[in-house]
Amino acid sequence: MRSARRMWMAGALALLIGLGAGVRANAADDALYRSLGGEEGIARIVDGMLDRAYADDRIKKKFDGVNPKALKESIRKQFCQLTGGPCVYDGETMVKSHAHLGLDKADFNALVEDLQFAMDDQQVPFAVQNRLLSLLAPMHRDIITR
Ligand code: HEM
Repeated sequence: MRSARRMWMAGALALLIGLGAGVRANAADDALYRSLGGEEGIARIVDGMLDRAYADDRIKKKFDGVNPKALKESIRKQFCQLTGGPCVYDGETMVKSHAHLGLDKADFNALVEDLQFAMDDQQVPFAVQNRLLSLLAPMHRDIITR
């Protein structure tokens, strides 16, 4: 009986420590998400980026026939998760969703520029912009195919 009680208390303690660590880790890790203005700030940034991309003569052809609403929703979730927010990205991998588009470095840079202008519009500080860009940069390996 006493050992069962001890086990229960040890379990409760482990749970509390685990929860505490989880909360702390989250508070530290979602700094970029919060700096970008949380879900609403990210939504404004992604909408701005894609509104520009759909009108950008350099790359707009790539978006022919792609529903902007669905793409915005998907990229919002991806950025939210990537920056430590409470979202789960449930879309395709970067390889699968871009393979058929035949993207090169210039296409990639054009979209990054559209993103930078969208962040400028939202008065996102330069250092914060660079933290998001540095999370996206490694994806070029999966997205650029020529
Ligand atoms: C770091 C750069 C990029 C990121 C993070 C990114 C992210 C994404 C995401 C999350 C999706 C949705 C996948 C899904 O819902 O299953 C997507 C699809 C798409 N992306 Fe990108 N992308 C990037 C670069 C580009 C570039 C450079 C272009 C074109 C210039 C582009 C054009 C598209 C198009 C057209 C789709 C829709 C494909 C389809 O539904 O057929 N992306 N991207």
